[in-house]
Amino acid sequence: MVTKKRVVSGKRSTGELHLGHYFGALKTWVSLQDQNQCFFFVADWHALTTDYQDPSSIEKYVLSNVADWLALEIDPKKSVIFIQSHVKEHAELYLLLSMMTPLGWLERNPTYKDQMKQLQNKDLSNLGFLGYPVLQAADILMYKGNLVPVGEDQIAHLELCREITRRFNYLYGDIFPEPESLLSPTPKIPGTDGRKMSNSYNNCIYLSDPKEVVTQKIMTMMTDPARKRRQDPGDPQKCPLFDLHEVYTESSVIKDVEQGCQTAKIGCIDCKKTLLERLLPWHASIYEKRQKYITKPKLIRDILEEGTKKATSEAQKTMGEVREKLKL
Ligand code: TRP
Ligand code: SF4
Repeated sequence: MVTKKRVVSGKRSTGELHLGHYFGALKTWVSLQDQNQCFFFVADWHALTTDYQDPSSIEKYVLSNVADWLALEIDPKKSVIFIQSHVKEHAELYLLLSMMTPLGWLERNPTYKDQMKQLQNKDLSNLGFLGYPVLQAADILMYKGNLVPVGEDQIAHLELCREITRRFNYLYGDIFPEPESLLSPTPKIPGTDGRKMSNSYNNCIYLSDPKEVVTQKIMTMMTDPARKRRQDPGDPQKCPLFDLHEVYTESSVIKDVEQGCQTAKIGCIDCKKTLLERLLPWHASIYEKRQKYITKPKLIRDILEEGTKKATSEAQKTMGEVREKLKL
């Protein structure tokens, strides 16, 4: 029998999920579920490393994010879905890994330096923030993960996780597979202002937006800035809306849009309507499923509880081996 590969991935609960999250990560998660044993969790402790001053927002997003996952068909029958902080073993493994992780590895971590610079409004000179990748390594090793679907920005963390894995195996005996990152394809998903779609830019189209809001956001979305009047020809390559056509619109129609824009045969309003004809039905099917869950938080909590049980049982097995290796 071929044993399924273990897939482990988490998402910080720091905001609502938007189209960028879907095309950058969740679409991959959904596609991995049949061939692998997947563990997907809300990394609420990781969210605390930066948002510890106001934890209320973290809690707010947990249920909403999980409702989105379920609506996208992250399926609790196939995958283990849970909240990181509900499986306390992650904290124990984090502590033990921290004993053998050299400080230099963490201080050199490029994401650490980068985030310190970018999030200057937050005080991040904390042990928890420095140890972020160690906690991430604990998350992955806990389930003996083989594959970790992540975005580009997490590659450095995965590399650190592999180093920690090798060091653990070398010091105490081989119990963990070296996890590999699985880079999700990252189509360009611009926000309504043309910059990368991101919670911090306030330019997102959320899975939780009602259709009127989606429509309004698309209808006012930035287009090729050089196309000022209806009769001016446009350049789709310079138009953020066209990037959305690339993911939603069938190629035969995309060609017409492209030519229509370049020759000023179509206006931006027509072009946006063509996009909405595709985007809205897709969005509605997710939105309806999401409503089903969000109006029954008990259903979500039951699913998470079930996931916590399965995750905990795996985690206890792993911790049994780890404690034995460390003579604890
Ligand atoms: N650091 C990841 C991010 O910000 C989230 C995360 C936490 C994670 N633990 C993980 C991802 C384990 C993959 C595996 O996206
Ligand atoms: Fe962009 Fe479409 Fe307008 Fe061209 S017609 S500038 S592709 S919105």
